[in-house]
Amino acid sequence: MAKSWMHALLLLLLCVPLTLSSGPGTEPRHRNISISLNPGHHDPPGGDLLYVRSVGPNDTLHILFCSQGAPTLLLIHSNSTEATVKVEWDDFLSGNSSGSVNVVPEGSVVYSGSLVFSRVWEYDDVNDTADPGSDLFPPYELQDVTWSRFNLSTLSALLCGVYKDSNGTFCVQLSVFENWGRSELWPRLLHNPDSTQLAFWLDGLTPRSAHSRFLLELTAVGGAPLETVQTVRSIDDEFTPSIFTVSQWLSNSSVPDRASGSSPGFVQWKPVAYRKPSATLEVATPVRHQLPRQQDPVSAANTSKLIFGFYGNDTSTSGINISFGLSGEPLYGSTSYLSWTLLVGVGDPPLDSFSALVWSILAVGLGTPLLLLLLGGVWVCVRKLSAPTPTAYEPIN
Ligand SMILES: *[C@@H]1O[C@H](CO)[C@@H](O)[C@H](O)[C@H]1NC(C)=O
Ligand SMILES: *[C@@H]1O[C@H](CO)[C@@H](O)[C@H](O)[C@H]1NC(C)=O
Ligand SMILES: *[C@@H]1O[C@H](CO)[C@@H](O)[C@H](O)[C@H]1NC(C)=O
Ligand SMILES: *[C@@H]1O[C@H](CO)[C@@H](O)[C@H](O)[C@H]1NC(C)=O
Ligand SMILES: *[C@@H]1O[C@H](CO)[C@@H](O)[C@H](O)[C@H]1NC(C)=O
Ligand SMILES: *[C@@H]1O[C@H](CO)[C@@H](O)[C@H](O)[C@H]1NC(C)=O
Ligand SMILES: *[C@@H]1O[C@H](CO)[C@@H](O)[C@H](O)[C@H]1NC(C)=O
Ligand SMILES: *[C@@H]1O[C@H](CO)[C@@H](O)[C@H](O)[C@H]1NC(C)=O
Ligand SMILES: *[C@@H]1O[C@H](CO)[C@@H](O)[C@H](O)[C@H]1NC(C)=O
Ligand SMILES: *[C@@H]1O[C@H](CO)[C@@H](O)[C@H](O)[C@H]1NC(C)=O
Ligand SMILES: *[C@@H]1O[C@H](CO)[C@@H](O)[C@H](O)[C@H]1NC(C)=O
Repeated sequence: MAKSWMHALLLLLLCVPLTLSSGPGTEPRHRNISISLNPGHHDPPGGDLLYVRSVGPNDTLHILFCSQGAPTLLLIHSNSTEATVKVEWDDFLSGNSSGSVNVVPEGSVVYSGSLVFSRVWEYDDVNDTADPGSDLFPPYELQDVTWSRFNLSTLSALLCGVYKDSNGTFCVQLSVFENWGRSELWPRLLHNPDSTQLAFWLDGLTPRSAHSRFLLELTAVGGAPLETVQTVRSIDDEFTPSIFTVSQWLSNSSVPDRASGSSPGFVQWKPVAYRKPSATLEVATPVRHQLPRQQDPVSAANTSKLIFGFYGNDTSTSGINISFGLSGEPLYGSTSYLSWTLLVGVGDPPLDSFSALVWSILAVGLGTPLLLLLLGGVWVCVRKLSAPTPTAYEPIN
């Protein structure tokens, strides 16, 4: 009787962690990716357009990344495995590119959203308040950066450029995914096949003041307008030591959007940047965001050919500033390097559940004392039950 009870408890202790730790990885599933650079044109002047077609069991995620103007990522989700993006290059490259980027069949689009790396602000933080309200320099307009050609590797594209005659490089790297996973480099964001990862870094820029700090301004165009930043707590800092939260820039209307059958989009990051190319705890620096703001769609369309080509110039647009460093943290000039990573996707943002490691620590930590208690109890019971029987004594010779 006691034995079977103990068996049940043991089974419970072993199995609960296993079932709960299989959190992510169920939805969405694997996608097949094909990549083409400048589809339909062999060498467009003014920058590259990367087209990644990511096909799932009954849908397609179209990922476009473009350096004609400010670096721009466009995600289009269509409910057909046959859908493709068509670019009318003559119109696209003309001053009036509106309508030159299309999905065929047109009716297959269920959601689209885009993110533009608009500008980098620099300010002189004389009093070490990390308050960008004061002493701003003219921003680096990223549409005016001279961008290199895309440097493609298996599932990623690297874009770097220099701003006029300033020193240093601005880089944006796109990674796309066929499966769930976690990137090797800190902050080791969790990704799913419906998301893409962007890394942004600022290397070797000569600061314009002795106490320079930086902001990155991002612009989101299309989809349900991104208006809220949600901070989600996570006690699992196993992958990004010392960081206990995830920030998500979302639309207020995600719920009504989902009811209509279309998935909302998201931008997600961990509030940490790194001051050296090899990210470690020692060079981590906190990241904050300002409240998202509505922006002028005409100027957004003006900064990016891809935005103008797909959305035209009157689609809902919102912007956000990401600020690097806090009061007391080292200034940009200390290493002349900053890198920050974010995830952009459709559907629900992937979230860490307790990992297998945390579960096994919990299981060992809680399970071992319980097991010892139980075994002790059983042993005492067995002794009590067997003690009074006199026949248990062996005759001594
Ligand atoms: C991906 O490609 C493999 C092999 O070509 C195929 O078996 C599989 O069905 C494809 N998956 C999707 C989601 O298209
Ligand atoms: C995709 O197809 C599967 C079965 O083929 C179905 O269960 C699932 O609901 C479909 N998903 C969508 C988003 O339509
Ligand atoms: C721009 O192109 C659109 C569609 O091709 C056209 O309707 C519009 O008249 C054009 N505008 C100008 C100023 O050329
Ligand atoms: C918006 O784009 C259209 C072409 O699609 C153009 O005719 C119009 O002048 C633009 N509006 C502004 C305010 O630039
Ligand atoms: C795809 O989405 C469009 C627009 O939401 C809808 O009209 C169409 O019926 C959908 N097609 C399929 C196969 O689900
Ligand atoms: C820095 O502090 C000094 C003295 O408190 C003040 O006069 C000055 O305006 C501050 N500068 C900035 C940029 O806030
Ligand atoms: C492309 O990137 C790889 C590493 O990602 C680098 O080794 C190589 O030098 C780069 N090529 C160019 C032309 O920048
Ligand atoms: C570029 O770097 C050199 C050496 O560090 C410096 O003398 C020069 O002023 C910098 N140029 C700009 C535009 O910052
Ligand atoms: C979206 O939500 C945020 C916070 O929940 C709120 O401050 C903001 O006003 C909302 N925006 C709109 C347009 O409702
Ligand atoms: C669009 O960009 C051009 C030059 O790139 C500039 O002259 C014009 O003022 C801009 N228009 C808007 C509305 O920002
Ligand atoms: C970002 O910060 C700069 C400088 O403070 C400001 O001019 C700009 O409007 C901000 N952008 C957004 C989207 O809040």
